Amino acid sequence: MTDTGTTAITENERAADLSNRVRAVHRQYPTGVTVVTAGVDGKPYGLAVNAFSSISLDPPLVLVCVNESSNSYGPVFASDYIGINILAADQVGVAGTFAKSGGDKFAELDWELSRLGVPVLAGVAGHFELEVKYKIPAYSHTIFVGQVVEAASADKAPLVYQAGKFFDGARLEPVQ
Ligand SMILES: Cc1cc2nc3c(=O)[nH]c(=O)nc-3n(C[C@H](O)[C@H](O)[C@H](O)COP(=O)(O)O)c2cc1C
Repeated sequence: MTDTGTTAITENERAADLSNRVRAVHRQYPTGVTVVTAGVDGKPYGLAVNAFSSISLDPPLVLVCVNESSNSYGPVFASDYIGINILAADQVGVAGTFAKSGGDKFAELDWELSRLGVPVLAGVAGHFELEVKYKIPAYSHTIFVGQVVEAASADKAPLVYQAGKFFDGARLEPVQ
């Protein structure tokens, strides 16, 4: 084997090692689970997203990151308004539905189109409707920055996701 070959393998191994450590760090970070929705000609689209964050309260800005390879990406990108549905602890099945591609994800669910044409899921812990302000390309993903134009929450515990597992947000122990 040539020196070049040896170096290439070492670099590949180093890259794989970093990738594993990156994944391990992400697994240490609990998140909620959202379903990002968009309506095009009255038809609903959506996918499960945990890359959601508040940016600021004044103005009320939030962001979500969506993979360009997802089927929902086109409808989300094409929409002036999108929805962020914060799933409740009893909606792990809904999370599973929206984490898969294909099929009519909305067929078995209660949902409605809002005044702005955004699909809103029933039974969620909360939801935002956003006016999309910026679409920032980031390699495989696009960061959608939106200004909140509607917000509603329910007295329901959120679904929590960490290290590939779902948890009941009502049963988290406060740290003393
Ligand atoms: C807990 C969880 C979080 C996810 N977070 C994201 C995310 O932040 N962005 C993203 O693009 N996909 C995310 N996904 C993956 C998409 O939900 C998944 O690729 C889905 O199949 C896309 O559906 P679609 O192709 O019908 O749009 C997540 C999946 C799960 C289970």
